[in-house]
Amino acid sequence: MRSLDSRERESRLLTEECHRLANENHRLKTASGAPRAPALPTGEEPPLPPEVLRLMVAGTDDALWFVEAGRRAAESLTTLLAKHGVALHQLHSILDFGCGCGRVIRHLRHLPAELHGCDSNPVAVEWCADNLPFARFAVNALQSPLDYDANSFDLVCALSVFTHLPERLQAHWMSEMRRVLKPGGLLVVSLHGDALRGKLTRAERADYRAGRLVVRGGDLVGTNHCAAFHPPAFVRSDFALGFEVLEHAPEGATGNPPQDAWLLRKV
Ligand SMILES: C[S@@+](CC[C@H](N)C(=O)[O-])C[C@H]1O[C@@H](n2cnc3c(N)ncnc32)[C@H](O)[C@@H]1O
Repeated sequence: MRSLDSRERESRLLTEECHRLANENHRLKTASGAPRAPALPTGEEPPLPPEVLRLMVAGTDDALWFVEAGRRAAESLTTLLAKHGVALHQLHSILDFGCGCGRVIRHLRHLPAELHGCDSNPVAVEWCADNLPFARFAVNALQSPLDYDANSFDLVCALSVFTHLPERLQAHWMSEMRRVLKPGGLLVVSLHGDALRGKLTRAERADYRAGRLVVRGGDLVGTNHCAAFHPPAFVRSDFALGFEVLEHAPEGATGNPPQDAWLLRKV
């Protein structure tokens, strides 16, 4: 396992790269006729975010994986909802919380719903706002109310987001998810579950087995180096407070492997 120092160093390097990219974005936008982002091979799809953004958000800069796994993530939403008689195309408003550089929301672009995405990473959000015109994007702070009214959304998805939040932010963001959902609204979250038990240290595994949330790198908040592991028992007893658990699909978040997918309904 890498040391905290090396993860901190990597995180700092990514942050610096993020600022470099922001400046480069700005330079490209202000230079006349300059391209804004690399285009995908087919003219049908939105452009691909730059490598560094894909790496920062998805952990790999593989363009094919970005597109295909994003598509699978959108399909997993469809499948999960369909099992409970809900069709994505019947929804009026959808929020992708922690949307990153739009890996998933790009595959929802044909839906009639009003689409929103938000993230704490301003560079990712800026790229989405510039390149994905079918949705509205906003930056949020690491811990603050979202800039949406209460009872706004039929569906909120948070794929691979609570997997990277420290303990103190888990309850805050779950209550915020609940606030912005309409009564009876649906929340899909993907979480590190039993499939990742093998990655835990012996002490972490003991906590996990006892039904306690395990967080590693909790000081690296806002980065993927903070990793949270949610035992199913903890999800049911604590995490999903104020929600009814409709579905727990172990490793069911097929676009965020091997995470579990959870479908929750606001009560
Ligand atoms: C592993 S990425 C997943 C991105 C996207 N959901 C996907 O599946 O491609 C985690 C994302 O969560 C975002 N994030 C972390 N903490 C956040 C917070 N407090 N509020 C909003 N977004 C957050 C990160 O900036 C990052 O874009």
